[in-house]
Amino acid sequence: MKPGAGLAFLLLIDVAGALYKQWIPNTNFENASNWDNLRAPCNGATIIFENRKKLSVLVQSMHSVTGMYIPWDGEFILASGAGFAAYTAGSASNPGCETESTSTFRDADSYQWLDPTLWHAASSTDDLESGNYLFSVHEESVPCRYDDVVFPADASFRVNIQSYSQAIELKSVSIMGQKFTRDEDFVHYMQSNTAKLQFHGQGSLKVTNAKCNDKTGCACGNSWERENICSALLQHSENVCPGVVCMNPLRPVGHCCDICGATVSLEYAPDFEIEKYRNRLVHTFLSLSRYAGVQMALSKVYKPQSLLGIIPRESVAEIQIVIIDNKTASETGTSAEQLASEIMSDVTNHGKSFGIVKGNMQIATGNNSGKSIESKALVVITASVTGVLCLLLLLVGVIIFLLMKRKTSLTRFWKKHCDLEPFEEAAEKGFENPMFDSPTNTTADVHGLYSGEDALKGICLKESGTYFINPLYDENECSI
Ligand SMILES: *[C@@H]1O[C@H](CO)[C@@H](O)[C@H](O)[C@H]1NC(C)=O
Repeated sequence: MKPGAGLAFLLLIDVAGALYKQWIPNTNFENASNWDNLRAPCNGATIIFENRKKLSVLVQSMHSVTGMYIPWDGEFILASGAGFAAYTAGSASNPGCETESTSTFRDADSYQWLDPTLWHAASSTDDLESGNYLFSVHEESVPCRYDDVVFPADASFRVNIQSYSQAIELKSVSIMGQKFTRDEDFVHYMQSNTAKLQFHGQGSLKVTNAKCNDKTGCACGNSWERENICSALLQHSENVCPGVVCMNPLRPVGHCCDICGATVSLEYAPDFEIEKYRNRLVHTFLSLSRYAGVQMALSKVYKPQSLLGIIPRESVAEIQIVIIDNKTASETGTSAEQLASEIMSDVTNHGKSFGIVKGNMQIATGNNSGKSIESKALVVITASVTGVLCLLLLLVGVIIFLLMKRKTSLTRFWKKHCDLEPFEEAAEKGFENPMFDSPTNTTADVHGLYSGEDALKGICLKESGTYFINPLYDENECSI
């Protein structure tokens, strides 16, 4: 990460999840990929713009042409010193060029706003310029409603804004150096000739200047364009997703295709702050050199829920972290797995101070068949402590049993709990740190202990007469 990037992050903390999204394709005259022979026109060439097309084309240098067929409706934007001159035989020709060739400008109508491959995302304009781009799921690669959209200053363009929405909402739009943050101004611009050549298709754009005011994050809002987004993506690959090497690949919320790597879904409390947490992940983990080839996306998503996996229910907001890496073959996803595991133990140890209630990790790597692990940030007494506790309880239980010759709830506790979760296995899940607890929340836990259902557990544990057990750890401990 560049030295400036950290500062940019800090400055952005207030704007939860908003990014800059830059349109990639352009219709510049000098861009080789805009011409049928993948080369800017030679001196003396005959230039053809198909007459049925509409186009706005930026010309940045001088061209001598033999002839030019211009489009039915179009404009050339000339940079200073740029223009067209009649070709005179014998003047210098560019190397590798035959004079009297023809060059045809390629169709620019096919580029769709909703195509996730046609946008770069970054957290600042500096990052856009330096190519410090961010990874995101497909739905969020297309501009979200709180994003700033950038059409670069040195590029003409043509984009099809067809969509399901009444209007695609955006925070702001910059077009060739002019930034629109008020819808009145933008509506006015959209009536101009240039705008009509730049934007086409059944759809409209609306500038709202709206910021996400929810510190826990705002969902992108593109889910209902999902079908269009995915079909725009898949047109590049004959409507099939690229194959993956892992056995049980993952399908993150908002992504069109399966991936190998890891996802972490977080349940959060009202005091969660998405940008603060993003900062932590980036600076504590992602910037480590061992994660150089790893990419991470972090956003709030609405996960569709279903009852018993069949009946659809209302979707639930969660924080989704998607991690992929550049490993190949059987190594695919192993760095992502490592990072996800570090994030999970961080959730267990410090999650509470970031407002995280619990995390669920799913991994799919080239060398395993996929697995899912859950970790709770609210665990106060952890597995290793429980292990010791079980031994003590057994000891005390045996003594009491021998002395009193009657069964206590301790033996039930032992049967239900200690037998079910062997110490080593629990320890592997990363519940090692028994020290995690912050004073502010202790009150809440104690309160929970004596209220409602938990009060029963409190009494039950009292009957055991020996040890305090946090009822949050296992709800089954006391149900008899
Ligand atoms: C040239 O145009 C293509 C397609 O519009 C675009 O992907 C590419 O980034 C452009 N290249 C440059 C150097 O502008």
